[in-house]
Amino acid sequence: LMAGAAGRPLTGRRAVVTAGPTFEPIDPVRGLTNRSSGKQGYAVAAALAELGCAVTLVSGPTALGAPVGVNRIDVESALEMQKATQDALPADIAVLSAAVADWRIDTVAGAKIKKAPGGPPTLSLVENPDILAGLSRPGRNRPKLVIGFAAETQDLEANARAKLSRKGCDWIVGNDVSDEVFGSDGNTVLLVTASGVETWPRQSKTAIARRLAARIAEQFKDPA
Ligand code: CTP
Ligand code: CA
Repeated sequence: LMAGAAGRPLTGRRAVVTAGPTFEPIDPVRGLTNRSSGKQGYAVAAALAELGCAVTLVSGPTALGAPVGVNRIDVESALEMQKATQDALPADIAVLSAAVADWRIDTVAGAKIKKAPGGPPTLSLVENPDILAGLSRPGRNRPKLVIGFAAETQDLEANARAKLSRKGCDWIVGNDVSDEVFGSDGNTVLLVTASGVETWPRQSKTAIARRLAARIAEQFKDPA
């Protein structure tokens, strides 16, 4: 074995990782967004890069710096995230951890909406495309291993299992967001695959990312 090959088992592989929230504009000064620090997704991008993987990190607005050796693409809206994710293909691995806003504003106002005596504006919403479901669809460009996240406040395992089959992805990392998660350095997750469910003890987001990256490397044991 060549020196370093054991420590960098994903050398020659490519991954796309989404992270952070999306921001859906209402007008030039306002928007709709989701709660997400981006820490877990950034940690996954860093952990994959540490194993030698070439990583494109498609990131919504976060306060984080790009991990060393990772190609970060900044986006705001779900539509921008979808395009940047598609542009990062082909890839062997996709880890979609972003907290994508489920809806965007139907018609974004070109100028700041002013308060008016008639009362607040009515916002009309349309559903955003499901980036994970789209990427999981069988086809020439489908990454070999597609991993989604499920942030749930209740029935974590049942919801994560349901998401795995509904989205058509290979693995789901179920994330219990009922206790301290947002912006925190710790996290409690379970991993749902076709062969079952593993519950991982609460640990740092970095430790979870390294464990996930090691599991991914196991799936790609044969050199690229
Ligand atoms: N996801 C995505 N594009 C969307 C919505 C979600 O790629 N428009 C991805 C997320 O990045 C995550 C997974 O799908 O990996 C699950 O997201 P989640 O919000 O839990 O699932 P939804 O299908 O939107 O269901 P819910 O009604 O619970 O929000
Ligand atoms: Ca959602």
